[in-house]
Amino acid sequence: MHTQIGIVGAGPAGLLLSHLLHLAGIDSVVVERQSRAHVEARIRAGVLEQGTVDVLRESGVGERMLREGLVHDGIELAFRGEKHRIRFPELTDGKRITVYGQHEVVRDLIAARLAAGGPIEFETEDLSVHGVQSDRPLIRYVKGGVQHEISCDFLAGCDGFHGVCRQAIPAGLMQVFEKVYPFSWLGILADAPPTQDELIYSNHDRGFALYSMRSPEVTRLYLQCDPADDIANWPDARIWDELHQRLEGGDGWRFREGRITQKGITAMRSFVSAPMRHGRLFLAGDAAHIVPPTGAKGMNLAVADVRRLARALDTFYASGRTEALDTYSDLCLKRVWKAQRFSWWMTSMLHRVEGATPFEREIQLAELDYVTSSEAGARTIAENYVGLPFD
Ligand code: FAD
Ligand code: DHB
Repeated sequence: MHTQIGIVGAGPAGLLLSHLLHLAGIDSVVVERQSRAHVEARIRAGVLEQGTVDVLRESGVGERMLREGLVHDGIELAFRGEKHRIRFPELTDGKRITVYGQHEVVRDLIAARLAAGGPIEFETEDLSVHGVQSDRPLIRYVKGGVQHEISCDFLAGCDGFHGVCRQAIPAGLMQVFEKVYPFSWLGILADAPPTQDELIYSNHDRGFALYSMRSPEVTRLYLQCDPADDIANWPDARIWDELHQRLEGGDGWRFREGRITQKGITAMRSFVSAPMRHGRLFLAGDAAHIVPPTGAKGMNLAVADVRRLARALDTFYASGRTEALDTYSDLCLKRVWKAQRFSWWMTSMLHRVEGATPFEREIQLAELDYVTSSEAGARTIAENYVGLPFD
């Protein structure tokens, strides 16, 4: 089989790329290891930048997001027992964020691709990519015990951090930047109506906690824990107790508990591999970069990458011009590094650092005091959080 663009991975990056290419009249095949049910149920990100919302809406897959997504005009930063609001529209020329689960975005994109007849191969095994330096790269995989091969004009590696595409770039040609943090996030979903409209990022002596939501019935909560910790050490009662201590301050605000429907621990890292292109292989999303979740940037970066890649491929097929493909990696990385900086900064400002001196702790609190009391400080958070403009 031959297709113009062979896409590995049916996460937000691979699916949106396939959808945008289809709108430009370019055909693609998406090859995914997991089942459709698995990718549609995978609970991950929840915050969509204004630009991500615009891309989904303008490309015709935003209908349910616009109906069910929760539009937020700000976030709260809590420290020393008090909450401080950062207002977005006033500080960013009217931009907002939308809370809408990543798995809902994935469901909407899969529905759109299948309705348009776009092939997605789920439940594949032993995928490998070949000939990325040639003009006919190949994807090989096994499905239902049968070996398959797809040749393509270009390959898109949208297979996440643990995928295989990045490994097709020779180590000597790739530079890796990495920082692993000495803490993880324990995240839960609970059947409990949120008791406030916006997210709360809390810096507490016991450790960071985040209050978020998915719908008027479902709360999403996170708390900082030890990276070596095991979810078995966290019975529901301990999770609730810790969340109450870290999130509820002196203002009388309380959140509701409910049945916990999902829980898990996620490690935190910053990671960039550069360049994001090798021959006819283009990496996008988590395959090329990971941010710690504190700035809510991961899925949004994946969307920004594939928006650029779809445009570059469109220009190539329409005119034969390669400039946009040639600058893809450098221009993506400029945005990636700004998101890395913001995510690292938010992470450093909000988490409890084991072994921090009293001086370092006071500096952390003074920084929070500054960004919540100075308009310049608040604007720095707001413009990064709602998403820097696309160029
Ligand atoms: P993925 O979603 O990882 O998709 C890659 C796909 O490739 C997967 O379906 C995988 O099964 C498939 N694959 C892998 N290897 C192979 C193979 N060998 N063969 C075939 N298929 C393969 N981001 C935000 O923007 N906002 C947030 O609020 C946010 N919160 C988060 C909270 C948590 C707890 C976590 C874990 C992440 C969060 N993120 C957030 C990050 C976000 O979820 C990721 O950045 C996003 O999933 C990246 O999309 P992707 O398509 O690049 O990769
Ligand atoms: C959510 C995740 C994040 O990483 C974040 O910064 C904010 C919200 C969420 O899952 O709702």
